[in-house]
Amino acid sequence: MIDEQTRHPLLPEQDHDELARQNFARSFKRVIFNEITPGIKDVWEYRVGPAFEAAEGRAPADRHEVRKVMMKDPQVKLWSSLRRVSQELLWDAVAENVERQADELVEKARRMEGGGTLTLDPSVEAPRYISAVDIHLMPTGYWSDTREDDVVSCALFDRGVYVYAAGQLGTLNEGYGTTIVDNFLRAEYPDFAPRRILDVGCTAGGSMLAFIDAYPDAEVHGIDIGAPVLRYGHARMKGLDRVAHFHQMNGEAMSFPDGHFDVVFSTILMHETARAALRNIFAESFRTLAPGGLMIHAEFPQYEGLDAFTQFMLDWDTYNNNEPFWGAMHDTDLEALAVSVGFDRDRVRTVYVPAGRQLQTGAKKGGGGRLALTVAQR
Ligand SMILES: C[S@@+](CC[C@H](N)C(=O)[O-])C[C@H]1O[C@@H](n2cnc3c(N)ncnc32)[C@H](O)[C@@H]1O
Repeated sequence: MIDEQTRHPLLPEQDHDELARQNFARSFKRVIFNEITPGIKDVWEYRVGPAFEAAEGRAPADRHEVRKVMMKDPQVKLWSSLRRVSQELLWDAVAENVERQADELVEKARRMEGGGTLTLDPSVEAPRYISAVDIHLMPTGYWSDTREDDVVSCALFDRGVYVYAAGQLGTLNEGYGTTIVDNFLRAEYPDFAPRRILDVGCTAGGSMLAFIDAYPDAEVHGIDIGAPVLRYGHARMKGLDRVAHFHQMNGEAMSFPDGHFDVVFSTILMHETARAALRNIFAESFRTLAPGGLMIHAEFPQYEGLDAFTQFMLDWDTYNNNEPFWGAMHDTDLEALAVSVGFDRDRVRTVYVPAGRQLQTGAKKGGGGRLALTVAQR
């Protein structure tokens, strides 16, 4: 399955052994999720949960209490270690593959011909919430340059995400964007004709593709902190014969004028930003939207309403996968946040949409194959 990714010119190539290793990493993950993870519920229901209740005389108050006792159980420790190792293995398998051809990829990106623009701004600094850890264990993160005109981190992302999701995000990792366009915008705003669209935290521009194809008359822009991801994203877009505009810019303080966009969206960005940053990004979304324009921030659904054990399971990434803001973001009242930056209360809502082809990823995060869109209209 994982050799079906669309072969655009920037995509790293795999020889037989590299592909076998990546396939193994993916299969290893699948075995953990399908065969081992379900048993963790039994550990809670039949061993750790009853012991907690016997000792405390009550059910656990929240996922933190569940975590503290569960992480002492040998079976849970083993499961958690396997998950961590499988994630490291996946990045190792992709990183050695990318590193072998890194200089070639840089050269290809330099020479790629096509439209659109790339505007880099070396004065943009990576905020600490991006630079302090390699998010989800991805070596180099999104922003570090390992060589001149680097594109390595985004080649890693492009291939790594595809392997991780076993292709469920689409053959161009475009699935989050397709979900917003097909399952929300086309359904609820069939006559919408945006002139300018912005993707905040665009990385390789996977989600931008869906908007470019759905709204051919619109200008599509993407911003990101990282120069390597923007270089790769722009070159990839050219290689795919699409036109888009990439800017190195912090979503917390954008240089676009007020009211510039008809859509400001993001996909799976919010859980990677600190709380204060998220508020700034919402405030900038409000400022840069034209009257009637839509803010759409897509994420896996919040924890609210889930029992403490389910929250504990979903929260594994916070503690073990270098996703320090995962849990806090999933506790945040995003509608209240949107209202606090200026949107009218009655123009803010959460829309749950079937997550396109990305069923497996969504289900893993407890979304049951759904994405939650925080939607606000200016
Ligand atoms: C999970 S990735 C987004 C994936 C992408 N939207 C997609 O659909 O493939 C998060 C991205 O957001 C970027 N990012 C994080 N904080 C940002 C900020 N304050 N401003 C701009 N980009 C940011 C990161 O550099 C990274 O490339």
